[in-house]
Amino acid sequence: MKAEKIEIFDTTLRDGEQVPGCKLNVEQKLVIAEKLDELGVDIIEAGFPISSPGDFHSVTEIAKLVRNAKVCALSRAHKKDIESAAQALKFAKRPRIHTGIGVSESHLKYKFNITLEQAIDRAVGAVSFAKSFVEDVEFFAEDAGRTDNAHLARVCEAVIKAGATVLNIPDTTGYCLPEEYGAKIKYLKENVKGIDNVIISCHCHNDLGLATANSIAGAINGARQIECTINGIGERAGNTALEEVVMILQQHRDLHLATDINSRMLTELSQLTSDMMGMVVQPNKAIVGANAFAHSSGIHQDGVIKNRETYEIINPEDVGVTESSIILTARSGRSALAYRYKNIGFDITKNELDVLYSEFLKVADSKKEVNDEDLNVIMNVYSQSANYERR
Ligand code: KIV
Ligand code: ZN
Repeated sequence: MKAEKIEIFDTTLRDGEQVPGCKLNVEQKLVIAEKLDELGVDIIEAGFPISSPGDFHSVTEIAKLVRNAKVCALSRAHKKDIESAAQALKFAKRPRIHTGIGVSESHLKYKFNITLEQAIDRAVGAVSFAKSFVEDVEFFAEDAGRTDNAHLARVCEAVIKAGATVLNIPDTTGYCLPEEYGAKIKYLKENVKGIDNVIISCHCHNDLGLATANSIAGAINGARQIECTINGIGERAGNTALEEVVMILQQHRDLHLATDINSRMLTELSQLTSDMMGMVVQPNKAIVGANAFAHSSGIHQDGVIKNRETYEIINPEDVGVTESSIILTARSGRSALAYRYKNIGFDITKNELDVLYSEFLKVADSKKEVNDEDLNVIMNVYSQSANYERR
């Protein structure tokens, strides 16, 4: 069975860049955009042109630079926003305007003080207006995660009729459970006229730590685009992490869903984004965290040394990491110690290992991690007492 394509819509430079304290200048955005293009993302959301002259300029320059991916610009359902997006995308080879409006009860009542019918009118007006500039128009139904499915279906049907090519169903507040979000996509697939002629997109936030799970649930239920960011950066607790989605689909081939991403570039993109944004990646972050391929407990180390697959489901090389690491701590066992000594040129016997191991534990108990320098010091002390020769 051939895998169906999941389009990767990267919004690192728009939703990701909204993170407090993480301002990127135009040059930095261009570097990231070029790398995203090389990584193989299908769409780059370059910014929100009406929001500031700086953002308008960045979108214009990214549109000129990007060769393969579609370049997308965000707008509210306002004529001046859409005009600005269209203007900024003037030089894009494959432009997309992303426009939309909040449709949940809360957004209708508190943000806009309008009825659902009025929101549908605005949505249809925005999509029709955007279509006068570009063929590819994505509509976002903001806060779709908390919107009644029947109401959402009415909005979707109306914007499809107006010419939307992609329907973005954002879980803006990160509220949904995976089953609930998956069921929402399924409901739209089954109840919206014309839905098979458009692409459904998942845009999930991570307030409950479920953004990636929700996006995958959406894809399983018929969505064919996932909106995500490098390292999962974004508003509040962030967005769906690109690297997680890509590797989940790569690992679970039984889902028959695949992306065109070159996964070997994931670590490089993660580090580049983190450095440029000045935003550290948490060490235990899935796929790209410093500890993602590090083993420190004795039981795990012993397994990994015998066969990597005992405790690793991903080959580190597949995400651009040269090899797994065996970290020496007071929880490490003899096999890890022997392995690390071998790496620095010592082939030690079982008896030698017993002595070295008890010395190692003393050092390990006094500091968090034992490094190669410590191992050399332990070995020097031992060799002086036992006349041990380096082999
Ligand atoms: O989270 C959200 O709803 C958004 C929209 C603007 C697409 O970012
Ligand atoms: Zn968002």
